[in-house]
Amino acid sequence: MRVALVVNGERHEAEIWAGESLLTTLRDRIGLPGSKNACEQGECGSCSVLLDGTLVCSCLVLTAQADGHEVVTVEGLAEDGRLHRVQEAFAETGAVQCGFCTPGLVVAAADLLRRTPDPADDEIREALSGNLCRCTGYQKILDAVHLAAGR
Ligand code: FES
Ligand code: FES
Repeated sequence: MRVALVVNGERHEAEIWAGESLLTTLRDRIGLPGSKNACEQGECGSCSVLLDGTLVCSCLVLTAQADGHEVVTVEGLAEDGRLHRVQEAFAETGAVQCGFCTPGLVVAAADLLRRTPDPADDEIREALSGNLCRCTGYQKILDAVHLAAGR
């Protein structure tokens, strides 16, 4: 089947199979490998993207469901060649280690700050609870979100 999506502001058409996940389409057909595939079961959040402004695990969304809709991936957060403030803050605070969880966390944190500009620790923990990180112990991720919130 053929679908058309707007991804990071650009229209893309793709020929997909009916059971294909949005994550697969983004990575393998549209050429956006930022969203990671760590579990493909909705458990880790590494594939997080915004679908019509709502945070979703792209491994759990069928591309057919996203037909005609708007998707923003981690690649789409930067504007005019400048990193998003959350991306900068993650790099500056050392919240990136292996980096596998980072794209999903960055998308989720950016979504949180859009809704809650100055979140408390418990609000950050709640908002990022679907994003697993095996490296950082989460403290530096909290630091990064606070740093980004202050900018
Ligand atoms: S790859 Fe989608 S939640 Fe883990
Ligand atoms: S930095 Fe390695 S899983 Fe988070």
